[in-house]
Amino acid sequence: MKQADNKATLSFSNGTPSIDLPVYQGSIGPDVIDIRKLYGQTGMFTYDPGFLSTASCQSAITYIDGDKGELLYRGYPIEQLAAQCDFLETCHLLLYGDLPNVQQKADFNKRVINHTMVNEQLQFFLRGFRRDAHPMAVITGLVGAMSAFYHDSTDINNPEHREISAIRLIAKMPTLVSLAYKYKMGQPYMYPRNELSYSGNFLRMMFGTPCEDYQVNPVLERALDRIFILHADHEQNASTSTVRLCGSSGTNPFAAIAAGVACLWGPAHGGANEACLNMLEGLQANGGAEKVGEFMNQVKDKNSGVRLMGFGHRVYKNYDPRAKLMQDTCKEVLAELGLEKDPLFKLAMALEKIALEDDYFVQRKLYPNVDFYSGIVQRAIGIPVNMFTGIFALARTVGWIAQLNEMIGDPEYKIGRPRQLFTGSKRREVSPISQR
Ligand code: CMC
Repeated sequence: MKQADNKATLSFSNGTPSIDLPVYQGSIGPDVIDIRKLYGQTGMFTYDPGFLSTASCQSAITYIDGDKGELLYRGYPIEQLAAQCDFLETCHLLLYGDLPNVQQKADFNKRVINHTMVNEQLQFFLRGFRRDAHPMAVITGLVGAMSAFYHDSTDINNPEHREISAIRLIAKMPTLVSLAYKYKMGQPYMYPRNELSYSGNFLRMMFGTPCEDYQVNPVLERALDRIFILHADHEQNASTSTVRLCGSSGTNPFAAIAAGVACLWGPAHGGANEACLNMLEGLQANGGAEKVGEFMNQVKDKNSGVRLMGFGHRVYKNYDPRAKLMQDTCKEVLAELGLEKDPLFKLAMALEKIALEDDYFVQRKLYPNVDFYSGIVQRAIGIPVNMFTGIFALARTVGWIAQLNEMIGDPEYKIGRPRQLFTGSKRREVSPISQR
């Protein structure tokens, strides 16, 4: 963190002396005003619910320029990573800071593959869930339960434990997500096959059965791998901040990642892909393209409570670059499966066109986000709607771990402890119950 030449001066209209606050520069992006000494010097807190103007940490992992619609992992544009790298190379990049060379890639892949199997006992834990439970409830439970199964990697302050828990989480997430799916379907679990790619293995664990060989379709394998790359990290979003805050207490990595999974589930975050597809299916069932205008009127009516899911983003005030890549992937997958005329894809394109030309969306800078097309791709691959957020969690796990490990290694790291503006009752005395 480099101190800038200028400083910020905070003055008060009531005669309280003004104070100077240091300003720091990052490598790119907005400068930050360091307010850490503000309370000590003035007895005041800052107020920023929703973190609209607050950098909660320093980080060297992911950079987003929301106005340009740019996303960089460790400096590399998402478009290049999606075109030239696979998901495990991206994991290496996020975890260790750079893309692997040939040898590093082979070593990393081998290490991940060696950990894909999960403790057999986890199956019995899984059986305690109702079969109609939402997969995200099950996945949250399974990830949290990992701390009960892998005792030799739960010390967050031990770099070796952090490394092995990182590899275990990346390796085992596909196995856990597919376990949750198979349990729901009442089908036998499929053990991982180490000769397959990360994404190919996941496809087989999801859709294979012991009755016959499963042939991985390379187009779907590549599409899924790309979904994983696009979702791998996204700087200090709600679930990542949850992981950091949870991990800041010194809890074990599995518990911190389970907190991230729980946060991701919400419809304003990772749950938006499920909500988006439900929206498209609902619209299709209620008149499709003919009713788009009526639906858009509801979206624009603040009292209706209806939002155009898959649209809008706290940071992107331009096209989310992931949405563009996802749209391309969508076309490839639909063409491979002979679904070029998929009505939901057509409906999504029609909605996007109307929204991009409509004043309501233009003025508020609302553009498609990653979730607008990801549901259509996943549905075409055969992934059921209620598994979408689980796929997101699988992909984001590496980002959560990279961010958690970065925080633990940061000399400025402290337990996260926000303060508040108290608006409740002042001190009062408890009266005897007969007098209340
Ligand atoms: N449909 C209709 N209006 C919207 C939408 C939308 N999808 N998104 C924002 N707006 C309006 C909102 O009503 C507000 O209008 P006004 O200024 O008149 O009150 C304005 O745009 C700003 O919205 P906001 O809710 O203050 O913005 P935010 O930064 O707090 O919320 C968001 C960001 C992503 C939660 C929101 O855009 C949203 O709910 N989108 C739909 C859900 C979604 O697609 N989420 C996925 C995000 S990307 C994946 C991920 O990171 O998890």
